[in-house]
Amino acid sequence: MPEFVIHITGARPNFPKAAPVIRALNRREVPQELVHTGQHYDEQMSEIFFRQLGLPEPDVDLGVGSGTHARQTAAIMTRLEDLFVDRKPALVVVYGDVNSTVAAALVSAKMQIPLAHVEAGLRSFDLTMPEEINRLVTDRLSDLLFATSADAVAHLGNEGVHAQKIHLVGNPMIDTLLANLDRIDAEGARAAYALSDHYVVATLHRPANVDGTADAQELTKAMHGVADQVEVLLPLHPRGRARLEDAGLFDHPRLRVVDPLGYVEFMGLVRGADAVVTDSGGVQEETTILGVPCLTLRPNTERPVTITHGTNRLVTRETLPDVMSGVLARGRATTWPIPALWDGHAGERIAAVVADWLDT
Ligand code: UD1
Ligand code: UDP
Repeated sequence: MPEFVIHITGARPNFPKAAPVIRALNRREVPQELVHTGQHYDEQMSEIFFRQLGLPEPDVDLGVGSGTHARQTAAIMTRLEDLFVDRKPALVVVYGDVNSTVAAALVSAKMQIPLAHVEAGLRSFDLTMPEEINRLVTDRLSDLLFATSADAVAHLGNEGVHAQKIHLVGNPMIDTLLANLDRIDAEGARAAYALSDHYVVATLHRPANVDGTADAQELTKAMHGVADQVEVLLPLHPRGRARLEDAGLFDHPRLRVVDPLGYVEFMGLVRGADAVVTDSGGVQEETTILGVPCLTLRPNTERPVTITHGTNRLVTRETLPDVMSGVLARGRATTWPIPALWDGHAGERIAAVVADWLDT
């Protein structure tokens, strides 16, 4: 069997990050296989991204589904261990900071299979976020660390990671955005949802915002404060749906909740929006490139470059309505800076490093 690379994906944010890396490795004729852990499984959270982003059908679907952190991570680990014993990959590539990422990192390290982490070095320094734990563990165990920004490189250096292992390559999430820009039709998306000329798009799924009853009620109040000013479309992640509905989120006439959207539809709506309200990681980056003001409902971000070089701003549930009123009054900027190397070529840079590494 020739040496091959195995990609581990499983949750929605993994798919737009993996697509450009797989495409670039294909161009270099590097043999590769794709695993879907099944962490996300609804059509709108998974399959639609494979279709829209031209991802190959997964070679293996582990079908783990939802569960507590320990159960989900453990299920991925036991199934991946069997798979790696059978398949013996030369390199495991993991993406971002989800449970599928850390599970694959742990299995690879214990089996002494080299590990590459795409989106290494991001830090919120907030260990109440499961993602921060996943990032720390994955980076500590990785042999190739692909960073999206200079601050991520600095964090890895501060943690004692050897400089030779770290590669500043840019942002593959932005490769996907730029590669699909021609299909991302703001006017068409606005018309499809019968939105007026001015509207806000929102996404909300972080445990700190949607898991507790009191948090869901405060969030509802804040979002209604936005909807009092402007029409809001909220493609809602399944995680908080029931709790937010109970909290009355759906009961405002100018706030429309819809199911999660496909990538092309979602980015079309974001592209034409007056502003975005979110707690997503990827959306902070995409709005930075599209020049759409992004109000992030979190106390911190592991992506500070989207604030220093982008359109992002941290808000609380208390400050959101007032900050939104200022943003709506100012309108969108006509020019804005873009972080270094967020140029659509991160996948190619990653593939070049991986191909070199396989040759040595
Ligand atoms: C996960 C990631 C988070 C990421 C988010 C992106 C971890 C620890 N968290 O959070 O970093 O920002 O994905 O979307 O990996 N569910 C469905 N259908 C699905 C998937 C999930 O209904 O296809 C529901 C289930 O009730 C499930 C809940 O959503 O229990 C949470 O799913 P899970 O994958 O555990 O975490 P996310 O909140 O999606
Ligand atoms: N996204 C989408 N449809 C939606 C919401 C999000 O296509 O309804 C895309 C968007 O490109 C985003 C990516 O999914 O960047 C991952 O988003 P998510 O918020 O799920 O994950 P995070 O980046 O917070 O880990």
